Amino acid sequence: MSDLQGKILKILQNPGFHSGESLGRQLNVSRTAIWKQLQALETLGLELESVKGVGYRLPDSFELLSKAKILHHIAESHGDPPCELEIFQSIDSTNRYARERAEAEAISGAVVLAENQTAGRGRRGKTWVSPFAANLYMSIVWDFDQGAESLQGLSLAVGVGVRRTLVELGLQDVQLKWPNDIYIGGKKLGGILLEMIGDPNGRCTVIIGIGLNVAMPSLAAQEIDQAWTDLQAQSPSPISRNTLTAKLVVTLFVLLKDFQRVGFKAYRDEWEEADLLKNLPGTVRTVKEGISGIVLGVDDSGALRLALPDGEVQRFIGGELSLGPSL
Ligand code: BTN
Repeated sequence: MSDLQGKILKILQNPGFHSGESLGRQLNVSRTAIWKQLQALETLGLELESVKGVGYRLPDSFELLSKAKILHHIAESHGDPPCELEIFQSIDSTNRYARERAEAEAISGAVVLAENQTAGRGRRGKTWVSPFAANLYMSIVWDFDQGAESLQGLSLAVGVGVRRTLVELGLQDVQLKWPNDIYIGGKKLGGILLEMIGDPNGRCTVIIGIGLNVAMPSLAAQEIDQAWTDLQAQSPSPISRNTLTAKLVVTLFVLLKDFQRVGFKAYRDEWEEADLLKNLPGTVRTVKEGISGIVLGVDDSGALRLALPDGEVQRFIGGELSLGPSL
């Protein structure tokens, strides 16, 4: 984000409408220059309210991420602070950045946040729609020392951690869809993307990427190709992204510290309680095929258990699960 865009945003955070003329006057630039920068901010996904002849206003819920506020909330909750907390105004992907940093140096416990991602990564090569200052885009770097096998089910456990945080914030009926999607009311609220680097048999680093829709602007939402929801629509009271971030960090740091010792087994019951598709017909699509059956739940390693029509129970450690039999 340019310096001028930052200054415009700062003024817009004062209540009320701001005309192009008054913004130009305060910043000593032309109205056209202001208009161009507002357009650029809109391209990042910022949804401004504009009234002809009156001016522009930020959405009511607007709040920029603040390192000071996040660290303050973490301290208030007696949580461990991140070893580093970086906030980008705009970046391609917090996971890509965190991964490159972690490849270069040991930064276990670092947290990377962004207001906007221009190439947010979703699972299975999909794009994660990441408009400016609307949602939460976070990557946590964490080192483990017992190899990839000890990390089975980690992404599901992270889903449990995210759910715990949302429940603490007053959200109801938060559900999990295997392997690690967050749902409310049958619509996707968020997702988790884990990437691993290092030695699969020894010390490795996991990049835990979390995307949660907080107040998805309608224009950006047009790019989403599935049923979605956001916290603004589901929460009884407004949710600050700074508070949400801090609570997630506190909860997930505790979970990540415990995970290798206790394994997914310790989170299994909680995961199954929230299972969106339990006892429903489902289809798992792997690279090779689609297999349909009844979703039974997960096992102690986080593998999906599917009852096939012949009565056999098949385990899946990867694949995409959807509701209903295959067509
Ligand atoms: C999914 O497809 O459900 C997973 C989405 C994960 C998105 C998050 S946003 C923060 C982090 N950075 C990325 O590029 N992706 C993850």
